[in-house]
Amino acid sequence: MSSCPRITLPRPIDAHLHLRDGHALATTVAASARQFGRAVVMPNLVPALTRCQDALAYRDRILAAVPAELSFQPMMTLYLTETMPRAEIDRAHAEPDIYAVKLYPAGATTHSDAGVRHLDRVMPVLERMAELGLPLLIHGEVTDPGIDIFDREAVFIERVLIPLRQRLPELPIVLEHITTAEAVAYVQEQSGRFAATLTAHHLLHDRNDMLVGGMRPHFFCLPILKRREHRRALLAAATSGDARFFLGTDSAPHARNAKESACACAGCFTAPTALELYATAFAEAGALDHLADFASRYAAQFYGLPVDTAEMTLIAESWQVPHDLPYLDERIIPFHAGQTLAWRLEARP
Ligand code: NCD
Ligand code: ZN
Repeated sequence: MSSCPRITLPRPIDAHLHLRDGHALATTVAASARQFGRAVVMPNLVPALTRCQDALAYRDRILAAVPAELSFQPMMTLYLTETMPRAEIDRAHAEPDIYAVKLYPAGATTHSDAGVRHLDRVMPVLERMAELGLPLLIHGEVTDPGIDIFDREAVFIERVLIPLRQRLPELPIVLEHITTAEAVAYVQEQSGRFAATLTAHHLLHDRNDMLVGGMRPHFFCLPILKRREHRRALLAAATSGDARFFLGTDSAPHARNAKESACACAGCFTAPTALELYATAFAEAGALDHLADFASRYAAQFYGLPVDTAEMTLIAESWQVPHDLPYLDERIIPFHAGQTLAWRLEARP
């Protein structure tokens, strides 16, 4: 029998995940279903998923890609556009497999062109969401070309989020993939249904890891990695036992050629090793006892869902992350490819 330390937790929820579509699902869904029982699936396909019927058809394609020996529940979202009718919000609210609506400021990130330019134009839709209690998931960065990329999240909070909260205090919000001490402080001030997701890569890395000694495109994501002090604030928030902070990988697959390019796509493919990466971060903070709440309970609480009755186990045993994986007709580089991780999922061969 192994004497390695183990952590057993309810099967976790990934509260922010990109799965892509078509043949990509064979790689992405299998990777996430090994790690998570449920995941909130982002709608930034091309074309964007702006209607319930499209999101539900996408859900069927995801379910068809779940390996036979695994179970996985995709929690679908709609992509907010300036032309979305209020009736679509009523339909989404009535649909048990749709959990939220995603706000992408137009131009903020990958496949965000169909997003929102002027928040005023979507106010009737947001009012309806507030009435019904349908959560808004926010990519919190301004797109103003005059604002430095490292400041875009903090400026978004000042310019967009604070006025929005004043106008619609009842609107449930998840501020996605937060990256700054300013965002942590803002979330800690909020009451009601307001939460934030944290990625593994922002808990483990700062911008030096991306830029010192050579430019590493597999660390390039949006919002971009920030300074070390911000990472420390994020890790403290994630491990503090505060239910407003929970796990969302923002695993965002791009084929190797698209990442290792003169104009690299933003996104880290963390899904294949997600829990092992989060365990590494929590171990660094000496807070492994808070991992189960962060990974498996707080998102369930936010969405009013039961905690998963199935469990999974992490073992303190080192193993090497594969150098690459098949993806479409190409290869994809998983986060920390070729490196040794100190935690391993029990089911991993
Ligand atoms: C995401 C993607 O590739 O879809 N990229 C990323 O860097 N996180 C989009 C997003 O969530 O910003
Ligand atoms: Zn994302």
